[in-house]
Amino acid sequence: MAAAATRSQTSNKEAISSAKPVSVLFVCLGNICRSPMAEGVFRNLTNYNTPDQHPLISRIDSCGTASFHSGSQPDSRTLAVLKDKAGLPNYRHQARKIKNPSDFEEYDYVIAMDEDNLIDLRDMVKRAKKRELSSGEEMKKVYLYGIFGGKSADEEVQDPYYGGKDGFEIAYEQVTRFGKGLLKHIEEDARREE
Ligand code: 4NP
Repeated sequence: MAAAATRSQTSNKEAISSAKPVSVLFVCLGNICRSPMAEGVFRNLTNYNTPDQHPLISRIDSCGTASFHSGSQPDSRTLAVLKDKAGLPNYRHQARKIKNPSDFEEYDYVIAMDEDNLIDLRDMVKRAKKRELSSGEEMKKVYLYGIFGGKSADEEVQDPYYGGKDGFEIAYEQVTRFGKGLLKHIEEDARREE
């Protein structure tokens, strides 16, 4: 039994190390509150940019569907949560708007924080297809983050911008839980492709 378990763990590791790494883009509206938080937490979960970087992760970034905060650093409340809860005191990110169609081509997972973001992203793929800039296949890469959360498939990370600190703490709990679920999904996918 123990030997079988060890064999299975070894073959899981082999499957993971031979699979193609994937890229992940987190998307919200302004790219200053939720998606940079999701990005920072997922970087942490995958040891991104460290010698221990997860072998199935190639690239992580975040962006917004709107440009009104382009160039700004994350909201101070997002930075406070990343510092106090995730132990990331030096997280920096410059907000940017999503690029259509290139971000959809370049990333394997394009992940919306809420239903509005999801609708906007799907509309962008449809528009690119209409203009014959894309095949429309990119639609398969667009997900609501909550589907990886293990609770309700339509769980959203609500926009905390106009609320208090508690909204950012709720968002942190969600993006941590969803991030673990996403990583598990990526690992299971790699094993399936073995
Ligand atoms: P985010 O939050 O989409 O999570 O970055 C927001 C940030 C700014 C605004 C709305 C949402 N805003 O209206 O300026």
